[in-house]
Amino acid sequence: MRKKYITTPIYYVNDVPHIGHAYTTIIADTAARYFRLKDYDTFFLTGTDEHGQKIEEAAKKRGKSPKEYADEISAKFKALWDEFEISYDKFIRTTDPEHIKGVQKAFEIMYDKGDIYKGIYEGHYCISCEAFFPESQLIDGEFCPDCGKPTSLVKEESYFFRLSKYQDRLLELYRSNEKFILPKNKKNEVIRFVEGGLQDLSITRTSFDWGVKLPESINDPKHVMYVWLDALLNYITALGFGGDKALMHYWPADYHLVGKDILRFHAVYWPAFLMSLELPMPHHIATHGWWTRNGEKMSKSKGNVVDPKAVADAYGLENFRYFLLREVPFGQDGDFSQRALIDRINSDLSNDLGNLLNRIIGMSGKYFDYHIVSDQVERYHKKELDDVKAIIKGLDELAQDMKWHRYLEELWKILTIANKAVDTYQPWAKMKEGKEDEAMALVALVANILAKTSLLLHPIMPKTTQTIAKALGFAIDKESFKRYIEDFLLLAPFTIEKVPPLFPKIEEPLMKEEPKSAPKPKESNTEGVITIEDFFKVSIKVGTIKEAQEVPKSKKLLKLQVDLGEERPRQIIAGIKEYYSPQDLVGQQVCVVANLKPAKLMGHLSEGMVLAAKDDEGLTLIGPKIPKKAGTPVK
Ligand code: ME8
Ligand code: MG
Repeated sequence: MRKKYITTPIYYVNDVPHIGHAYTTIIADTAARYFRLKDYDTFFLTGTDEHGQKIEEAAKKRGKSPKEYADEISAKFKALWDEFEISYDKFIRTTDPEHIKGVQKAFEIMYDKGDIYKGIYEGHYCISCEAFFPESQLIDGEFCPDCGKPTSLVKEESYFFRLSKYQDRLLELYRSNEKFILPKNKKNEVIRFVEGGLQDLSITRTSFDWGVKLPESINDPKHVMYVWLDALLNYITALGFGGDKALMHYWPADYHLVGKDILRFHAVYWPAFLMSLELPMPHHIATHGWWTRNGEKMSKSKGNVVDPKAVADAYGLENFRYFLLREVPFGQDGDFSQRALIDRINSDLSNDLGNLLNRIIGMSGKYFDYHIVSDQVERYHKKELDDVKAIIKGLDELAQDMKWHRYLEELWKILTIANKAVDTYQPWAKMKEGKEDEAMALVALVANILAKTSLLLHPIMPKTTQTIAKALGFAIDKESFKRYIEDFLLLAPFTIEKVPPLFPKIEEPLMKEEPKSAPKPKESNTEGVITIEDFFKVSIKVGTIKEAQEVPKSKKLLKLQVDLGEERPRQIIAGIKEYYSPQDLVGQQVCVVANLKPAKLMGHLSEGMVLAAKDDEGLTLIGPKIPKKAGTPVK
């Protein structure tokens, strides 16, 4: 039997789900529903990624054990997907005992094969990305090239995976399978990365505990596995790899849906692990872009995330699904705005689809007592039917390529054909002329186009389309899909049912906008200019440095305790080590931005920012010329 295996990334449990996670999951859900409708034996996997240093730290910050914390957040992901009626077949957690067993089995196979060896890792690690970087790739010798956060220097005993050994086979994989990476234009960046030379990958850590232990046969209890090795293997442990293998017939995956932030892990490391395990390659790594807010990637740490549940509650889950898939070309970034969402609902859904349905219900009621017969459609509307058929024929390839925005764009063309036909043939005029069968043919043409639209739109809007189908006298399932789409048959005579308006127009944004996301002024003459109110949002105060210390392993950072006249001094991490030695700083006064959101730099909390001026000659801290009381505002 034909099968499809579709996966989402397993999401880190360091934070609650946001719209980006919902996006990936909804694309995967749409694909799964589409393939089920086409009678593929479909398996859809999602879940949570629960090990690693990032989770360990997030849990600690909240005074919880990693497992306790992971349980809590994993349940939130699951609850959201259940509320969104995501049709996953399995929700995997990397703390599941079967997963852990499977990962250990994989490690053992790769080790026995000679693909894993022990050595010393020395390099930089970004905890936020859970990724290693050679010094040469860091920004300013310190910051992560992917997310911009400070990295830490790691030197520890580690097991390595012989990634370098697979370089040629990987390049061959990209060359031989045109569509291994979707969309195709993302392929070159991966090829460039691999051609740049692959270093063996450090796949174990000894400096923390929260990870999968090595297999007992290796007997090296101080190591835990690198979280990405553990995580990627979920795609096969979920099928029973290393255990009962009950679902292994679904392997290889047809689609690994991923955001572009994790393309490299899926297109380079994952195939190499699979090569080592001698398993077949996945068919597609389907890579989407980022949802942004005012051009910045949405992320919890930036505080600019949109809560998907709030959007679904305000605008309707299915409208939201339609918007996510239609608004942005697959692979590209998209800026989230309520305005764009409202436009899609009012114009595509309400005008093009909802009004058409109501018009046809109205006409059939007025002229034919709601009874619709399709037997004259071929005769009067062969051209329209042929056009519709041609469009529908092209849809499958777009779906198979995950180009849902194009799929919907094409699908809407058949609605345009229907809307145009009503205007051109004017059934009310035909009725006046006594040409009843022509009027019926037109009404039936439109009803049939709506029926086909409901079937093809079903994966994106599962419930709304059932309502439409029900009004048209049928239910959406594999059989009706085959009948009306694949065999392109027309509806048997039926009585159309009235439905309340499916897509009421929306006038005003339904969610309170975050003050943060207010659009930036656009006019060029005001570019870079702020108002006095803007300036007064920044609270600058005079502070006295009470203590200064080095930050271990950092070339640039010093840790300061600065008195701002508050109960306790603020801890501020400043990139000034190259210009000041700690002992010279104590007692100095500086100007401090006092209302910055606290951030962590190399694991240390920073509760403000000291002001400094830097030119070719070096850097000087800025403070009052004459000593002022700590906490004095600067204006
Ligand atoms: O990377 N726009 O987990 P994660 C669009 N655990 N999609 C976004 C997004 C945004 N602004 N932000 C996040 C991990 N995503 C690993 C994966 S897989 C073996 C391990 C989506 O919680 C997108 O799918 O950081 C991205 O790839 C994923 O969330 C990252 O989720
Ligand atoms: Mg992430």
